Amino acid sequence: MRKILTLISLMVLCGIVFHACQEAPRESYETEWLGETKQEIVNNIEEQFQGFSRTMVEVSYRYAELYWSGIDENWEYAEYQREHIDEAMEQGFMRRPEREASSQQFISAALPEIEEVIQTGDKEKFLESFTRLTASCNTCHAMEEVAFMTVKIPEQRYSVIHF
Ligand code: HEC
Repeated sequence: MRKILTLISLMVLCGIVFHACQEAPRESYETEWLGETKQEIVNNIEEQFQGFSRTMVEVSYRYAELYWSGIDENWEYAEYQREHIDEAMEQGFMRRPEREASSQQFISAALPEIEEVIQTGDKEKFLESFTRLTASCNTCHAMEEVAFMTVKIPEQRYSVIHF
């Protein structure tokens, strides 16, 4: 009888040990400030990427650079900035998908139009197209209820890049 009891307790013990071994070990990471668990780290990374305002700060810098590159007729730099505006917007939509619909006219009309004009290297046409691009920024601002932020063609250069 005793032997049977010992055997049963051994089996129970083995069961507990086996179960404990099967549980996945808790992963913890050493980071400077991002957090310890995977979830904490992912949350903090998302937070640090920020939302659409970060996109806009980048886009407005590139928008001004695009303008001055046209004034300078530095078409390579103009195309570089046009492409990076497009990329920055795409990244912004990943963060804030709800903003994409209002920017359709900007992405599908205003930006492709200026891309074509850049290829022709016609300064007059560029300036016309740039006025339409500016209006397109403001159309989206109106649709997104931030019409109090009116985009205007830059009057001064702040860039260190000159032709
Ligand atoms: C989705 C359509 C959309 C388009 C297209 C768009 N914007 Fe914006 N913009 C916004 C929204 C929305 C905000 C406010 C962001 C927020 O509330 O986080 C904003 C904010 C801004 C800001 C303020 C950013 C800050 O936090 O200081 C600037 C500057 C700006 N936009 C410039 C531009 C320029 C220049 C263009 C065109 C080249 C443009 N925007 C095109 C939607 C758009």
